[in-house]
Amino acid sequence: MSDRKIIAVVGATGAQGGGLVRSILADAGGEFAVRAITRDAASPAARALAAAGAEVVAADIDDAASVRRAFEGAHGAYCVTFFWAHFSPDKEMAQARAMAAAARDAGVRHVVWSTLEDTRRFIPLDDDRMPTLMGRYKVPHFDAKGEADEAFRDAGVPTTFLLTSFYWDNLIHFGMGPKRGADGKLAFVLPMGDRKLPGIAAEDIGRCAHGIFRRETEFTGRTVGIAGQHLTGTEMAASLAAALGEEVRYEAVPPAVYRGFGFPGADDLGNMFQFNHDFSDEFCAARSIEFSHSLNPALQTFDAWLKVNAKRIPPA
Ligand SMILES: NC(=O)c1ccc[n+]([C@@H]2O[C@H](COP(=O)([O-])OP(=O)(O)OC[C@H]3O[C@@H](n4cnc5c(N)ncnc54)[C@H](OP(=O)(O)O)[C@@H]3O)[C@@H](O)[C@H]2O)c1
Repeated sequence: MSDRKIIAVVGATGAQGGGLVRSILADAGGEFAVRAITRDAASPAARALAAAGAEVVAADIDDAASVRRAFEGAHGAYCVTFFWAHFSPDKEMAQARAMAAAARDAGVRHVVWSTLEDTRRFIPLDDDRMPTLMGRYKVPHFDAKGEADEAFRDAGVPTTFLLTSFYWDNLIHFGMGPKRGADGKLAFVLPMGDRKLPGIAAEDIGRCAHGIFRRETEFTGRTVGIAGQHLTGTEMAASLAAALGEEVRYEAVPPAVYRGFGFPGADDLGNMFQFNHDFSDEFCAARSIEFSHSLNPALQTFDAWLKVNAKRIPPA
């Protein structure tokens, strides 16, 4: 039997976890084996991971006992929650608590928790530059993750708190690609004014997490942040224009306008971009490119990501 240390990966069929699974599998002679956690071990995505060499185990992060079983015997665990599947910060925090307790009970030696800033530390609820949402949040999908950091500290499990960045893949999967306006020209809408937004290829998050598991003792108990590049909307539009072979105009709508777009979560994302804009220096400083590259030498720039993925951005 292999004596490699097992890394249990929540969200293994998804963006963050999938990147980590593929990174560990690609490192055939490395120190880790990977356990892919899915709710449905018989799904095509789960079978593909098994065929690629992953151990596949069924668990649901809403079911604490199943997570405890899935973490049994693991050295490390990658923990992530799925806000956009339910839009509930309470649920996200309950899931984080369940994973933290499962990691403690299973004796996991190193958790990497995929977190984000609790923006209320920067913008108190009584700061009316942006609306308070759901009664006690500014950016619900950020604040709940930041608040849930405490669950891992309370559980006493050695944890690295990983601040992720805006996925460039949102241009493919989240409807954020350029849109054709009435003038027939492409416009890239982002409420970032002239400030820089840290972004990353979703695949690189898992690769960076792999680097963190490799350098375990350096990071446990610490918050670290990753990004592939820090770019303004103008810079992103220029890269998009080059990749798509036609003019792309940057349209810096105000966050208030974005909040009013009406799709589910538009208010949360409008507040998020306003936070990213107003605290751009702090937000970028928490996500060093150099550090990310040290974890993952294959770290992609936006242009490199576009070279492979521009054709997957849905036509406007
Ligand atoms: N989009 C961005 O720019 C961005 C940036 C930073 C952070 N984030 C955060 O990233 C998180 C989502 O991560 P992701 O993008 O990797 O997700 P994803 O690609 O949507 O993957 C979700 C995977 O997780 C599994 N899953 C869903 N619910 C589950 C549950 N209850 N128990 C166990 N597994 C479950 C599903 O696998 P099965 O169906 O196989 O179970 C699915 O394949 C969100 O909380 C979001 O806020 C997003």
